[in-house]
Amino acid sequence: IGDKIGLTPALGWNSWNAWGLSVNEDKVKISAKAMADKLSAYGWNYVNIDDGWEAENRAADGAIVSNSKFPDMKRLTDYVHSLGLHTGIYSSPGPRTCGGFLGSWQHEDQDAKTYADWGFDYLKYDWCSYSEVTPPNPDLAALKKPYQLMRSSLNKVNRDIMFSFCQYGWGDVWKWGAETGGNSWRTTGDIEDTWRSMSDIGFRQDAASPYAGPGHFNDPDMLVVGKVGWGPSLHNTRLSFDEQYTHISLWSLLSAPLLIGCDMGHLDRFTLSLLTNDEVLAIDQDALGKGAMPQVKKDGYQIWVKELKDGSKAIGIFNLSDKYQTIDLDKTGDVLKGFTKYRDVWQQKFIVSTGKTFTAKVAPHGVLLVKLEK
Ligand code: DGJ
Repeated sequence: IGDKIGLTPALGWNSWNAWGLSVNEDKVKISAKAMADKLSAYGWNYVNIDDGWEAENRAADGAIVSNSKFPDMKRLTDYVHSLGLHTGIYSSPGPRTCGGFLGSWQHEDQDAKTYADWGFDYLKYDWCSYSEVTPPNPDLAALKKPYQLMRSSLNKVNRDIMFSFCQYGWGDVWKWGAETGGNSWRTTGDIEDTWRSMSDIGFRQDAASPYAGPGHFNDPDMLVVGKVGWGPSLHNTRLSFDEQYTHISLWSLLSAPLLIGCDMGHLDRFTLSLLTNDEVLAIDQDALGKGAMPQVKKDGYQIWVKELKDGSKAIGIFNLSDKYQTIDLDKTGDVLKGFTKYRDVWQQKFIVSTGKTFTAKVAPHGVLLVKLEK
């Protein structure tokens, strides 16, 4: 248990970016049904509840309890499992979660057992309010401590539970997340549905990237596609179509968990097309579990490269400018040498390219995602 799960990044949904604290049982059920009907055939399988499910106070015996929006957790996990899917829960190591509900502080064993008894398969473990019970400016040992504690509690239950750290990258968590028993760890603060936020996060993952591997992945936060809103103000993502291609391409190159953050009851055709491209998902799910690194970093564009298990490479040629760009790559240069076939992964077709240079015409804030084959 623990070290043999999550060998590829999680593919799923998390309630936070759509529903915030207004999440309830019905919303989770609708999401699970939509995932089963529309996405599970492509590998999507986690339906994760974020903050907002907990009661304000514990039961007399100290057990954590759900609030009235979640009348029966076991009934809910049974439902999600009946659709062939996994399901996740959320807590914080402090006395309170970020939303002000019950956290797991001093109840780690008891809560891990409750989550297992309820049938959860994934735990996202935040940080909020833990600062109140630890010295100011915690050192590395203090940063690790709550995650070690919960790790040992999860090890005591007889259930495989993916463990996802959510402490925003402090203390270079990517350097010690794996040895502390994390299956993934957030590398940044919260994402928003803007180009600025998504690109700032995505294109700064090179420090963390070398630490990704089977069973332990960097998590640059959830996907801001479809209808998002962090509560009742749902709106279509403010990312343009091309920015969304960039988002999914980059997260897949990084071997990031792909956790959809939208209203699953209203998946539009474009969002579905983003989430159901087998060849793109195969890059994210590649068994080597490598994180891509930038091989070219220019003012207007970057090329990120990921090695894949079959000896091929996936490259993202990203246009960071707000104008169309034509990018010429020498076929004998570092990025392309040794490969003769260029597969446009989003289009799922080989690109015809004769001559000495490979030419990519890339839309503003867009990407050409290419699989290089021998
Ligand atoms: C902060 C995290 O970064 C978010 O993803 C979300 O879990 C909220 N806390 C919940 O309060």
